[in-house]
Amino acid sequence: MPFYHKLGEIPRVKHTTFYKPDGKSLYREELFGSKGFSGVYSNKYHIHLPTALKSVREIKLGQAESWSEAPLSCYHFFTDKLSSKGDFISNRKVFLENDTTSIATAKITKETDSFYRNAFAAEYLFVHHGSGRLLTEFGTLPFVPGDQIIIPRAVTYRLEFDNFENNYLLIVESPSAFEIPNHFKNDYGQLDEAAPYCERDFKIPEFTEAIDEKGEFRIIVKAGKNYSEQIADHHPFDVVGWDGYLYPYSFNIRDYHAKVARIHLPPPVHLAFVTGGFVICNFVPRLFDFHPEAIPAPYFHSNIDSDEVLYYVEGDFMSRKGIKEGSITLHPGGMPHGPQPGKTESSVGAKDTSEYAVMVDTFAPLKLTTNVQKTIDADYVRSWLE
Ligand SMILES: [Fe+2]
Repeated sequence: MPFYHKLGEIPRVKHTTFYKPDGKSLYREELFGSKGFSGVYSNKYHIHLPTALKSVREIKLGQAESWSEAPLSCYHFFTDKLSSKGDFISNRKVFLENDTTSIATAKITKETDSFYRNAFAAEYLFVHHGSGRLLTEFGTLPFVPGDQIIIPRAVTYRLEFDNFENNYLLIVESPSAFEIPNHFKNDYGQLDEAAPYCERDFKIPEFTEAIDEKGEFRIIVKAGKNYSEQIADHHPFDVVGWDGYLYPYSFNIRDYHAKVARIHLPPPVHLAFVTGGFVICNFVPRLFDFHPEAIPAPYFHSNIDSDEVLYYVEGDFMSRKGIKEGSITLHPGGMPHGPQPGKTESSVGAKDTSEYAVMVDTFAPLKLTTNVQKTIDADYVRSWLE
C-alpha cells in the first residue's frame, strides 16, 4: 500500500517486550516483509506462535490441463459457461497462464471452514458479483461488486459471502507484488493530483478483535502449482495489533477517474496496477474524444510483445460484437486486432460509453488451458470478415 497503517495494540518500540494482560507472557512479534528485509513490511503481534503447526501434508486440488496445441489466434470465451460448484479455494478455474501470470474465474456456491494462503503469488480478486468480507490477520475488509482486492503474497485469508445466490470473481495471480505505478506518485510517495485515484479511494482493513482459540485449523497453502494442508493448533487470526505498509486493501472500479482527450487515448491511460509480469487497466464509463471528427473506437493495432486480455464486466462494449458479461477476449502479441466491421463507423459521433472492463496486458505470451476450449466462441476468429 502507498501509506502506513496501524490497527490494534502494538508496543511503542518494535522488537521490545510486549506483555499480555497477565503481565508475564509475551505476545509474539512477526515481521511480515518483502525483498529480504528491504521491501515493504508490517509487524504483527500474535497471541500464539505463528509457527505452531500440528501437521503438514501434500494434497491434490484440481488443476486445469494445458491446451498445448492451441493455435496462435484471437480468442473469445464465455468464462461463466463452466457450470462448476465449490468454495473460494477449490472452484478456481484457470483459463490463461504463464510463469508470471494466472487468470482464473471462480463461481462460489458454498462455504468452507478452511483458510487459504497463496505462498508464492500475490492475488488480485475482482468482485464481479457478490458481497461479503475478506477476513485476515490484518482485520476485515468488506467487499461489494466492483471491488478489486489486492492480497499480498502469503497473507492467510478467508472469504465470507453474504449469500450463495450469485458470487463470481476474476482472480489474477502474480509472483511479484501488485503495485501502484510510480508515475502516479509525487517525490514524497503521495498519490499526485493527476493520478486516477487517491488515498481516500482505497479501502483498508477494519480492526477485528484477535481470536484466541486453540484446536485444529486447516490452512490450504498454494505454492506454485502444488497444494498442501497445514493444521495449525490455534486460530490463524490471533493478531492483537500490527503496523506497516504491507497489508490487503481494495479499490472499487467505480471510483476510477477516467481520462479523456481530443483524440483516442491508448490503454496506458486506463492503468490501475502494475506487476513484474503484467499491468491491469480499468475501463470505466467516460466521455468520448471531443475532436469534431474523432473516431472513438480504437484503431487497429499490433502490440507485438504483449498479450491483451479483456474481462468484460458491464455495459455495452463499443468495439466488439457478441461479447457478454463474463466474457474474456485474448488478443495475443503477433496478431493485429481492432473493431469488428461496422463498429468503427458506428462509434463516430458517439458521446460516451457506459462500459466496465478489466484489462490484463502481459509481457510474456500466455498459454491456454482446456477451460478456454470448453467455453470458446468458435466464430470469433471469423468476426472481422466483411
Ligand atoms: Fe488492443
